[in-house]
Amino acid sequence: MIFFKTLSRLIRSACLGLLTVFSVASFAADAPVVGDPVAAQAKVAMCIGCHGIKGYRSSFPEVYSVPMIAGQSQEYLVVALQAYASGERTHPTMLAISKSLSPQDMADLAAYYANLK
Ligand code: HEC
Repeated sequence: MIFFKTLSRLIRSACLGLLTVFSVASFAADAPVVGDPVAAQAKVAMCIGCHGIKGYRSSFPEVYSVPMIAGQSQEYLVVALQAYASGERTHPTMLAISKSLSPQDMADLAAYYANLK
């Protein structure tokens, strides 16, 4: 039993190590930003009020029709956020919010919501 515990701990730290190496490497190579759904948990506070805990319940249904973003494809979500930030999509709140997000924030949030059921 101890053996298996140690083994699984080893595997886990090996995976974490690989992840770290991977993100450092991709940063160095200026590769596309990799979304981190765990990092997003510190950032979703500003989305929850409208997109809901589960990503889709609107807090002001009589004012807004807030789209369901949980379970959407990650690429779609990033493109949507970029479109608000660039002004290609026009929505005052989403414009303000998306402008405050870094490319890493967008990738993280997209990864988070894409994995939310
Ligand atoms: C004040 C309410 C509000 C907040 C806060 C908010 N949103 Fe939105 N969001 C909306 C509304 C309303 C729309 C639909 C806008 C439109 O019609 O284009 C929208 C649209 C979107 C879309 C496009 C969805 C689609 O199907 O095309 C994405 C992606 C999105 N929001 C992500 C986020 C993220 C990520 C956050 C947090 C960083 C956030 N929103 C915070 C209200 C909000």
